[in-house]
Amino acid sequence: MSKIMNATPSSVAPTSGLEGIAAADTALSQVLGQAGELVIAGTPLHQFVAQQTFDEAIQTLWSIAGSDLTLEAENVAHARALAFENIEKLQPVLKGLSPAEGLRLCLSSLSGSNASDAPVLLVSAMPVFAANVARLADGHALVAPDLKTNTAACFLGMLHNRAPSQGEINALDTYLSTVCDHGMNASTFTARVIASTQADFVSAIVGAYGALTGPLHGGAPEPVLDMLDSIGTADNAAHWIDAELARGERLMGFGHRVYRVRDPRADVLAGALKELGAEGPRYGLARAVERCALETLQRHKPDRVLETNVEFYTALLLDALHIPRAAFTPVFAVGRVAGWTAHCIEQQRIGRLIRPSANYIGTPVKAPQDLSV
Ligand code: COA
Repeated sequence: MSKIMNATPSSVAPTSGLEGIAAADTALSQVLGQAGELVIAGTPLHQFVAQQTFDEAIQTLWSIAGSDLTLEAENVAHARALAFENIEKLQPVLKGLSPAEGLRLCLSSLSGSNASDAPVLLVSAMPVFAANVARLADGHALVAPDLKTNTAACFLGMLHNRAPSQGEINALDTYLSTVCDHGMNASTFTARVIASTQADFVSAIVGAYGALTGPLHGGAPEPVLDMLDSIGTADNAAHWIDAELARGERLMGFGHRVYRVRDPRADVLAGALKELGAEGPRYGLARAVERCALETLQRHKPDRVLETNVEFYTALLLDALHIPRAAFTPVFAVGRVAGWTAHCIEQQRIGRLIRPSANYIGTPVKAPQDLSV
C-alpha cells in the first residue's frame, strides 16, 4: 500500500480508515472525488451506462481484468437453474431470515471449486437468489428464473411473478450498470483481500457481500425510505433533520468517503426515475428533504462537504420498481457482483498476497536481549 502524499504506512493514523491509501492497481474504474466523476472501463459513468446494458458491462469489466470469459446463454441458463435448485433445498432454513441474511446463506451454498467459470456462476446466480429471498421473506412462494432473459428482466420477472415492462427492465438495468463498480470501496477491497489468498471466488464474494450489508456502505437505502416515512411531509423535514443531527445520528444517503461534491451516480439514477415516469408524491417529498438536508448539513458541518450520495436515489428508484425495501442491499449485490468478480480476476493475475501491517499500540514487551536481565 502506498499513501498518496508520500507518507510511510507507519504514519497512517489508526482512525484514518485507510483514507487516501492506494491499496491496489486497477484498470476497472476510477473515482474522481473532487471532480465528482466516476470513470468505468475508461468511460465516464453517464456514457458507460448509455452505451451498454448491464450484461454487456459485466463482460467489459471481465475483459479489462484480463479474462476472456463471456456470458454464453447456455452457461447462464445452467447457472440460473443450479441456483434455483439450491434455493429450493434451502427453503426451510431461509424462512425467518431477512433477505440480506438469506442471500448470504444462498451464496455460501455455491461450489467455488471450478475457478474458470465461477464468475459466470456468481453473476447468474445472484439475481435468482436475490429475487427469491425477497419473495420468501414476504411469505410468497419461490418463482423459477426465466433462463433466457437478461439479468434485469430475469430478476424482476421472478420478484413480481409477472413479465416486467420494458420501462421497468430499462430502469433496473440502468441501476445495475450504475453500481457495477466503484473503485476500492470496502466490499471490493474485501473481495480482493480474499482473492489474494487464492481462496475460491465464492468465498471472496461471500466476504464482499458481508461488507456491503453495513449501513455505512450498501445498507443505507432501506433507512433512506424509513427516513422519508418518518418525516412524512415536506414541512416537517427541517425539524426532523435538526433533531436527528442533535442526537448525533447520521442522515442516510448523504456524505461520502471520496466524493467532495455530489455523487455522479445520484444524477444517473434521478434520470432513470424520470424516464420510468415515477416522479410521484414520494419523489416530491424526497426532493424537499434532500434540499433541507443539504442546507442543514452545511450549517452543521461547515468544514466538511456532505452531499447527496448514490443511496438516496437508489432508494427512490428501487421503491418505484416495487422492490421491497428489505431487499435493496441484495439488489445492490446483483449489480456490484460484476465489479467484485472482475476485481478478483485482476487480483489473481497480480498474484500477490495482500497482507498489510499494523502499528502495535499494546503493552510493550522487552526486547530479547533485555529478557535475561
Ligand atoms: N450525516 C451527518 N453527519 C455526517 C454524515 C451524514 N450522512 N456523513 C458524515 N458526517 C459527519 C461525521 O459525523 C463526521 O463528523 P465528526 O468529524 O464530527 O465526527 C464528519 O461528517 C466526517 O465524517 P466521516 O465519518 O469522516 O466520513 P467518512 O468518510 O468516514 O464517511 C460515510 C463516509 C458514507 C460512511 C458517511 O458519510 C455516512 O455515514 N453517511 C451516511 C450513510 C450512507 O449514506 N452510506 C452510503 C454511502 S454510499
